Amino acid sequence: MTRAVAAIVLAAGKGTRMKSDLHKVMHPIAGRPMLAHLLASVAELGAEKIVVVVGSGRDQVEPLVESFGGAVVVQDPQLGTAHAVRQAEAELGGFAGDVLILYGDTPFVTLETMRRMEERLGAADSPVAVVVASRPADPRQYGRILARPDGTIDKMVEFKDASEKERALDLCNSGLMAVRAADLWALLARVGNDNAAHEYYLPDLVMIAAAEGRRSAVIEVDPDEVEGINSRSELARQEAAWQRRRREQAMADGVSLVAPETVWFSHDTEIGRDTLIEANVVFGPGVRIAQGATIRAFSHIEGASIATGAQVGPYARLRPGAEIGEDARVGNFVEVKKARLGKGAKANHLSYLGDSDVGAGANIGAGTITCNYDGFLKYPTAIGEGAFIGSNSALVAPVTIGEGAIVGAGSVVTRDVPADALALARGYQEHRAGWAARFRAAMAAKKSKLGK
Ligand code: UD1
Ligand code: CA
Repeated sequence: MTRAVAAIVLAAGKGTRMKSDLHKVMHPIAGRPMLAHLLASVAELGAEKIVVVVGSGRDQVEPLVESFGGAVVVQDPQLGTAHAVRQAEAELGGFAGDVLILYGDTPFVTLETMRRMEERLGAADSPVAVVVASRPADPRQYGRILARPDGTIDKMVEFKDASEKERALDLCNSGLMAVRAADLWALLARVGNDNAAHEYYLPDLVMIAAAEGRRSAVIEVDPDEVEGINSRSELARQEAAWQRRRREQAMADGVSLVAPETVWFSHDTEIGRDTLIEANVVFGPGVRIAQGATIRAFSHIEGASIATGAQVGPYARLRPGAEIGEDARVGNFVEVKKARLGKGAKANHLSYLGDSDVGAGANIGAGTITCNYDGFLKYPTAIGEGAFIGSNSALVAPVTIGEGAIVGAGSVVTRDVPADALALARGYQEHRAGWAARFRAAMAAKKSKLGK
């Protein structure tokens, strides 16, 4: 494809049904705003210009759009889809290539569909516009399209303006369209608002061109691909669909999912082949897992990297900055934040490791806590290679446990421990011979004297 492409993304609708202070297109799916999903595909297509049309909420949308090299323009008031597209004209300046018109609330239109739009627009019969359509099971109030078997469009009509016969048509306008820039601006200038909604309809452009004998073409896609998101319920449905696709992708990539429907990915989760993921695992953003790791059931993992052969869970929580080394183990009810576990290190039960560096082969006993926070600042804990931390120890940071050192169970360690030393920081144990027997005898006598 040699022609230049620009994308105009419409997002000026009020999004009333979301009942949200957050702009509709900023609501996340797989931890990423829906608009970012769409812009990522647009960027992959190689669009050379991106303009997003918003009504209110510009400030919420602008940083994201700019991160994709695009610009935001405001449509106020919102007088319809044709009017919305016109708002992008100045920003596109003299752009002379093909323009794709997309919807911010329809973020999962595929790269393949965008390429088909492009290809169809550039085909030998040179249609004015390429309209993306589908045949949803419930055609609701979508605009209807009357098309010939070869895809030539005879009529586009909004539901509000349609006759009973037209409403019975099952080919629905998705709203997405491709038009050459020169045609787009010339035709849009001629679109009026003499219709049931008193809005400037984008599909009218097709009818204006048709009246002059210039044809437009329809391409059909799966209705799920172009289903818009207008409510929290539809947002959840798209999340579920995204997760289903991602699970299939993971398995196709060689990751074993024991109960795929219970594993929740983030948009950027990376997992190497031969990794096994048990049931009910949730990935937040920023997770990288190498090959051949095992993530056991009920673990919550975000911002973490996990090396080959490592075992995490069941019931582990890895927070941002967790780096789990090769063959290391993080077991049940262990929380790791901003901490590195070296090769083969183990924290198998009931621990908190924060702002810590744990050397290779170290063993962190059950219930060990790194006390990294004094209510104001955070402090580091370093545990040397091969060190052994006895159960229920509190390591009060900043503190360093030397290589090969042993910390006695139940210690509260406040000073650095030299390499290979034993640290005991707890009350000493004394024995008073026979004390318990004497105590029981004395108490029993006292009780019987009282007649009880
Ligand atoms: C539009 C189409 C309809 C199609 C339907 C698919 C028109 C006239 N109708 O319906 O044929 O079946 O989409 O969902 O084009 N928007 C603006 N500014 C506006 C109005 C809308 O930016 O003034 C944006 C919205 O944010 C949304 C998109 O355009 O992303 C579609 O708007 P919406 O109101 O949902 O669709 P309709 O106009 O009813
Ligand atoms: Ca809509």
